[in-house]
Amino acid sequence: MATLSLIGIGSGDPRQLTQQAIDAIAELDVALVLDKGADSGELRHLREQLLARFGGNRLRVVRLSDPPRAAQGEYLARVEAWHEQRAERWEAVLREQLGAQQTAGMLVWGDPAFYDSTIRIAQAIKRRGAIPLELKVIPGISSIQLLAAAHQIALNQLNGTIHITTGRRLRDEGLPQGIDEAVVMLDGQCSFLQCAAPESEIFWGACLGSADEQLIRGSVAEVGEQIRQAREALRERKGWVMDIYLLRNVRGGNERAEAPSSTPCSR
Ligand SMILES: C[S@@+](CC[C@H](N)C(=O)[O-])C[C@H]1O[C@@H](n2cnc3c(N)ncnc32)[C@H](O)[C@@H]1O
Repeated sequence: MATLSLIGIGSGDPRQLTQQAIDAIAELDVALVLDKGADSGELRHLREQLLARFGGNRLRVVRLSDPPRAAQGEYLARVEAWHEQRAERWEAVLREQLGAQQTAGMLVWGDPAFYDSTIRIAQAIKRRGAIPLELKVIPGISSIQLLAAAHQIALNQLNGTIHITTGRRLRDEGLPQGIDEAVVMLDGQCSFLQCAAPESEIFWGACLGSADEQLIRGSVAEVGEQIRQAREALRERKGWVMDIYLLRNVRGGNERAEAPSSTPCSR
């Protein structure tokens, strides 16, 4: 049976690859590299460099264009339809490129378990059954871990809960009651400016693990605008930016809040 390996690569710095990821890349016959348009050129280049460095002599690198995502319609329905199209496209390429006993691979940014659709799409291909496939998932270092290490913090407070969410959900729903720590990803709109209590502490990081890494921490009231400007400057210079932050509700030092800690967004 053919194998499809989904390999977490961290943030592109080769030193973040685990030995398991290096071994998995060395075993590949075919690597599928997504081409998501101009903004992702740098990320694609990083992946191709890792493949050139750690791939074996037989490795073929195949670029795969992403189908466009519909601009109109309900968000989840649009994403599901897009995943379906991607599954069809990836399946067609695998059928064309992969021998019955061969191994294909995809390098996944960070860790495949966090806000990444690669596992879901690979499972959809498997379910369709047109290609008998064994799946392998190799964990990588996530931006969540990079954020905590860069700021030298533990994400949870003593015996506390950590919530992981997106900028969209923070804007739509705020934080659930009782949540003191929230990691927010995929937030192109600096939602903390409208949705976090001004006294909340924010630990922000952009382009973590790269030469462009930037870190800012402080209360939202004090550093919120500084973060927005730093983010915008990076986006203008690079054409894209990835950033992530931890919001920590500060209510009398590390004491747990008696009042609900939820901070619903007014929008
Ligand atoms: C599609 S998700 C992929 C997350 C990835 N699977 C991970 O484990 O980090 C992309 C989001 O991850 C975060 N992210 C990924 N890499 C990052 C980096 N190097 N620096 C800061 N944030 C990053 C950002 O919130 C970005 O919007």
